[in-house]
Amino acid sequence: MRILQTDPDDARFAAWCGVWAASQRADRPDELPRPAREHVALGRRLVEPGGSMAGTHRAAVAGDAVVGALRLLLPVRDNTAVAYVDLAVHPDARRRGVGSALLEEAGRIAAAAGRTAMVAEVDEPVPDPPGRAFARHHGWTCDLQESRRDLALPVDEDRLSALETEARAAGEDYEVLTWRDRTPDALAEDRALLGRRMSTDAPSGDVPVEEEHWDVARIREDEAAHLARGRTVLTGGAVRDGRLVAYSELHVPLEEPERAHQGATLVLREHRGHRLGARVKVAVLRELAATLPQVRRISTYNAESNRPMVAVNEALGFRRSGGLSTWSRRI
Ligand SMILES: CC(C)(COP(=O)(O)OP(=O)(O)OC[C@H]1O[C@@H](n2cnc3c(N)ncnc32)[C@H](O)[C@@H]1OP(=O)(O)O)[C@@H](O)C(=O)NCCC(=O)NCCS
Repeated sequence: MRILQTDPDDARFAAWCGVWAASQRADRPDELPRPAREHVALGRRLVEPGGSMAGTHRAAVAGDAVVGALRLLLPVRDNTAVAYVDLAVHPDARRRGVGSALLEEAGRIAAAAGRTAMVAEVDEPVPDPPGRAFARHHGWTCDLQESRRDLALPVDEDRLSALETEARAAGEDYEVLTWRDRTPDALAEDRALLGRRMSTDAPSGDVPVEEEHWDVARIREDEAAHLARGRTVLTGGAVRDGRLVAYSELHVPLEEPERAHQGATLVLREHRGHRLGARVKVAVLRELAATLPQVRRISTYNAESNRPMVAVNEALGFRRSGGLSTWSRRI
């Protein structure tokens, strides 16, 4: 087996994406895997000069076949001690050391880039999936355990309007609005502050991450990246005295819009207690139903310790569907 560098312009990249698709199909057979287009767009973003994320890809090749796929993400503006590892081995090639060889390579690249810790996520459709045993085998520690919850759409109208009426009464001074793909210019500075707060306010357990640096340029970079990936993003926001103080995002892959992904939801600390989390979520769900009725399901991830967010999600009808763990190891 050889480990070779690859990128979206390389002839092997389609097979590299194929390993991810096969791995996701095996682990979550009821879901469509991430389309290759998303891997390509992310790969191109990593080599764009001036971007907030750099990185590289490796393919494990046996004979002519790509059997393992590694992507290493290296944040540039903040968290420069960390390397994020995405790793998958084709189901037919597992338990032969392919994953271990790619992980060793990841450690080498990360150390050469001056990183002192690696972080990786393990999707857990069932309790104790291979990724957990693999991470433990390599001496990684589990720093954060989250639950995944799914919401089947459409949401029952009575449930939605009851929640909306209740939430509205708790925060009459706030105006709620929605937008798609591009944050209005007048709110972009505030949206950057919310991005910064989001990086530290959501529970992150012992994951070795620090506050992210967000400005308007990074907001615009992020918006362009979602469009390049073939995703549209619906956002609900709460405004008081012209300032954006809360937001919630939904990401919809346009090629396969049946399943949407909940993005960030945050209420600035000083504006909590007015049910704004529920209000912006209801607003964005209504916008989704009106403009993208093809979406059948939304998935979200939360630490169980994040009781306020879990309570809003359960009130909306989200139900548990597996988990996600985050692991790290010092290099
Ligand atoms: C996790 C994954 C990358 C492992 O790849 P792999 O090539 O099968 O791993 P290796 O053969 O190098 O396994 C190394 C050790 O990890 C442990 N391990 C790996 N898979 C295991 C499993 N299914 N059950 C129990 N232990 C397992 C074992 O200790 C194994 O050593 P052994 O085979 O000598 O007992 C692969 O199962 C996969 O792609 N899973 C889906 C994506 C994922 O979870 N990525 C992990 C992100 S860290």
